[in-house]
Amino acid sequence: CGIVGYAGPRDAQQVLIDGLQRLEYRGYDSAGIAVVNEEESLQVFKDEGDVTKLTGSMPVIEGHIGIGHTRWATCGKPSKENAHPMIDCENCIALVHNGIIENRAELRDRLENEGHIFTSETDTEVLVHLLEEYYDGNLRSALARALEDVKGTYAVAAVRKGSNEIVAARKENPLIVGLGSEENFIASDVTAVLNYTNKVIYIEDGEILTLTPSGVEIFNDKGEKINKDYITIPWTAEDAQKGGFEHYMLKEIFEQPLAIHNSLLGNFDKIMSSDFLSSQDFSSVKLIACGTSYNASLVGKYAIEYLAGIPVTVELASECRYSSETREDPLVILVTQSGETADTLAAARLAKKRGHRTLAVTNVVGSTITREVDNVLYTQAGPEIGVAATKTYVTQLMAMYMLALKLGKSRTLRRDEIHRYTHGLKSMPRTVSNVLAKSDEISEAVGMLTNAQSAFFLGRHINYPTMLEGALKLKEISYIHAEGYAAGELKHGPLALLDSNTPTVAACVWDMSYEKMLSAISEVAARDSPVLGIGIEGDRDLEAIVDRIISIPEVEGILSPIPLTVAVQLIAYHTARKRGCPIDRPKNLAKSVTVD
Ligand code: G6P
Repeated sequence: CGIVGYAGPRDAQQVLIDGLQRLEYRGYDSAGIAVVNEEESLQVFKDEGDVTKLTGSMPVIEGHIGIGHTRWATCGKPSKENAHPMIDCENCIALVHNGIIENRAELRDRLENEGHIFTSETDTEVLVHLLEEYYDGNLRSALARALEDVKGTYAVAAVRKGSNEIVAARKENPLIVGLGSEENFIASDVTAVLNYTNKVIYIEDGEILTLTPSGVEIFNDKGEKINKDYITIPWTAEDAQKGGFEHYMLKEIFEQPLAIHNSLLGNFDKIMSSDFLSSQDFSSVKLIACGTSYNASLVGKYAIEYLAGIPVTVELASECRYSSETREDPLVILVTQSGETADTLAAARLAKKRGHRTLAVTNVVGSTITREVDNVLYTQAGPEIGVAATKTYVTQLMAMYMLALKLGKSRTLRRDEIHRYTHGLKSMPRTVSNVLAKSDEISEAVGMLTNAQSAFFLGRHINYPTMLEGALKLKEISYIHAEGYAAGELKHGPLALLDSNTPTVAACVWDMSYEKMLSAISEVAARDSPVLGIGIEGDRDLEAIVDRIISIPEVEGILSPIPLTVAVQLIAYHTARKRGCPIDRPKNLAKSVTVD
């Protein structure tokens, strides 16, 4: 979910709608706003559906103070009643919330017994009734008291009629304050406020704040007023716009040469000289992540083991909580583009509790994970709006390679090898631009996928995870069932599924797996599966056995996941586009999953 709030001289309705549109990647099954107007009454408009639907039915609302919400349902189905803001019985207080109230049933029983009438199925509604219960002239004190009763997680904001203040608080869900001149903002994410200001304060767990047009007061969990410095965000609102591309996803795919460049610029020297990674006192590495970041971690495993000779395990963050403590004391690397994924945060806390050293690889400055770990590596991809991760993934791969080189430097790699791989990484912006130039060719080649119900993505060694990522991208945005498979496993099951209606995308580069990949492709072709091969420019042997080929420039095999990833991203994009799918906002998915 995304929340936004505004207090200042502008028309609050417009600022809130603008902010909500920018936050829609956080959820878009319902939306709403509450504005305190000049007559000091409270106007609330909300509906099931996205922000465009809401604005279509909404009258002009006068007023300069307000809050808004765009929802991704976790408790109670998407509906007008369950949309936020929630209001109290007297129609005096409106509240928006991102997170989960775990003891909602118990609180609801108590409040209903005290006479509160509930109108939704949400957990959030208990919060607004608690505010009503505890309000005695000071909304911040009421919020503080209400939160004492609550077990769970939240970023929450509320307004009351007759007042020009917004109160807000956070626990384990993101919340920022944007500082303007005679106006102030709150939001789940900086993209909602960048049009107005780039001065941002990150609110931390346990903090409560009051925001008015003239200032922001922040209090710690003991109720003491604290001073916090703002950070100047280097992104412009334009960075977060579509910039002429049909979809955010395509724009972000095309931004990858720049993102890779920035990622090298911001990190390479820092990583290579870091003391944190120099110490020899860990003998293994554990990578933990979800979704696309998990696939990047799998590439990281191959890269670190190959380049640094350190054993690496990769764990799904959502499975970590069930893991047993072992005698190992690994370096734990949490990979999360948003820095807010609840499962990954829980895994970071567990790793700390077990006394492991922790490093986060994330794209978002000031995100929650950065405060949970010993060290942070920022991927420097810039804001990513499309739900399907692209440039954040590729910069995660860059981070994995840089870490692998650093770890290998003091262990296994010779100076000339470091030089060779460094050169390979520094050439990546050009290599990737070369793949991007094939976008139209790829668009034509995906004809063999557009009507498929199911597809296979095959690879070996470090490109096995690349193809897991290719399959994930296709699933996410085109709704075609796709499986990423290690090509050697084909004969242990999936061959039974292949026929002329089940196309295969196969990665086949000149590395240690080349010959075996050629054989696997021949086996697939013999079962009539149409094959789209991705290989190195000039590979006649591959060309001879596939139906279509997409070529990438010749690169070191171990670095080939980067150009190959760009090719599979474009395959997924063009397939989804031809199928008329809502590429930037696939159904049932959200960019950042802050519930576990
Ligand atoms: C969601 C997104 C995925 C993402 C995953 C992990 O499911 O839809 O694209 O890979 O979360 O996100 P993180 O921010 O931790 O990388």
